Amino acid sequence: MLERIQNNDFSDIIKGRRSVRQYDESIKISKEELNEIIAEASLAPSSANMQPWRVIVVNTPEGKNKLRPLMRFNTLQNDTSSAMLIILGDTQSYLNVEEIYDAAVQQGKMPQDVRDKQVPQIMSMYPELPKEIKTEVVKIDASLFSMQLMLVARAHGYDTNPMAGFEQDQIVKAFDLDDERYVPVMVLSIGKAEVEGYETVRLNSEQITFWR
Ligand SMILES: Cc1cc2nc3c(=O)[nH]c(=O)nc-3n(C[C@H](O)[C@H](O)[C@H](O)COP(=O)(O)O)c2cc1C
Repeated sequence: MLERIQNNDFSDIIKGRRSVRQYDESIKISKEELNEIIAEASLAPSSANMQPWRVIVVNTPEGKNKLRPLMRFNTLQNDTSSAMLIILGDTQSYLNVEEIYDAAVQQGKMPQDVRDKQVPQIMSMYPELPKEIKTEVVKIDASLFSMQLMLVARAHGYDTNPMAGFEQDQIVKAFDLDDERYVPVMVLSIGKAEVEGYETVRLNSEQITFWR
């Protein structure tokens, strides 16, 4: 965890992040490093710490071929990146609640009585939520994970592009997962820039803030 960080300059990480759409095809990120990046992104917060983010890593020629027709106008990222990360939300993430909370107790991070109070509360609520609410919850959590992953990638010396332009109704099934359970959130390309991302502008804080 955090052992392969190459850039620890927070200001550079956030100011220098750009959506990169064309990557150096000679750069391959190892499975070990992608696992580290995913683990570091998983330090993101989530509703009841249920961590509903799931990732399909597409980094083989076969996987990329399968993904290409689903990526609409985003095929350059697919074809040149080291990997395409399909970020999903698991609407049954409450199935992991006991494991997560038991581990917290075992590791001395949560008192047993807090676990014994919270687990039944969570389990009486989340499984019964309507599908739209479950979808909304996991999309928020998986989006926080995605943002963290993009910054972690920068710290590892890589670039990313978040994408919503893909066939949302087909992508989960295409990779052999249950599309009733897993909700597509976004796709992130990751690799080293061949062509730098262009600079973009932001509204100023007064335009986006309500003070009361
Ligand atoms: C949810 C989301 C969906 C996006 N979808 C696409 C996309 O399909 N294709 C693309 O090239 N860029 C996509 N973008 C990238 C935006 O265009 C980009 O973030 C924005 O213009 C700001 O530029 P920057 O990322 O370089 O700061 C998406 C960004 C977000 C957050």
